[in-house]
Amino acid sequence: MHTTDETAVEFEEVTFFYPDEEDENPGDPTRVFTDLSIRVPAGMTALVGENGIGKSSFLLLAGARLMPMSGTIRLFGRDTRDFADAPIDPSLEEERNQLASFIYQNMEFETDEAIGGLMEAVYSMGRLETRESSFLEELVEVLELKDARMKRMQELSKGQLQRAVIAFSLLYGSPIVMMDEPVFALEEAQKERVFEYLLAYCRKNGTSIMYSAHNLELSRKYSDSTLLFRKEADPIVGPTSEIFTRDNIEKAYQAPMDTLYRRDSLYRQMLLGAANS
Ligand SMILES: Nc1ncnc2c1ncn2[C@@H]1O[C@H](COP(=O)(O)OP(=O)(O)OP(=O)(O)O)[C@@H](O)[C@H]1O
Ligand SMILES: [Mg+2]
Repeated sequence: MHTTDETAVEFEEVTFFYPDEEDENPGDPTRVFTDLSIRVPAGMTALVGENGIGKSSFLLLAGARLMPMSGTIRLFGRDTRDFADAPIDPSLEEERNQLASFIYQNMEFETDEAIGGLMEAVYSMGRLETRESSFLEELVEVLELKDARMKRMQELSKGQLQRAVIAFSLLYGSPIVMMDEPVFALEEAQKERVFEYLLAYCRKNGTSIMYSAHNLELSRKYSDSTLLFRKEADPIVGPTSEIFTRDNIEKAYQAPMDTLYRRDSLYRQMLLGAANS
């Protein structure tokens, strides 16, 4: 059982940039992170901040999908460098996935089997000790997957696909799940329902979720902690009630609050456009 007193992810003097941004002078603004030290507690954590500020990169680093150029990242105490060879070593990849699952921003894959069968398969190969068919039924209900059950991945709508992937991630049962924009294609009411369920699920089972959702209201409502990325300063993390002040948010984005809410809906349109093209 993980509690918010426990550390889920720790960055120690982490420097990271994308290889094609290779820089000659340290401190170059194209670096995503420079000597970043931060500790993210267990529980449900929302990553909040401007487009392009580094939320996805942070999730990929924390989930051992990317490696830092220098410094150390620990995931429940485990150095993520242990998983550097995961892309070329299937058993290491599985070990990494069992520690941290990842929902990528735009997942697309084709399957021969339908969602219902895949859910059962993921559940049986996952790491949960007890398996109950009632959990499968609960997920089908909450994530509205009744119709999707009979369909294969490539036959799903974007929203159905996102809901199916969330179901897989919980069925697999890793102690932490990184979710990068996992619900942008869902209707507002569905988003609320899914996030309400995820927060309750985390609290009940001690699972941790770190997500970015590009939706300030959702992030505030459904998180124990907030990791706030700031323009021109390092990110800060803490209990959502303490971090989510108007002052903190406006400083982080260097923009007034009401324009930020408008940006959320524009961004959703953009992601949907990209997903449908
Ligand atoms: N694969 C990549 N190759 C090169 N640069 C990248 C890559 N992915 C991201 N970047 C750059 O790294 C920086 C951080 O990007 P990142 O995707 O982590 O931001 P983000 O906060 O997730 O943004 P968004 O809110 O738009 O999802 C940006 O400057 C971005 O342009
Ligand atoms: Mg992103």
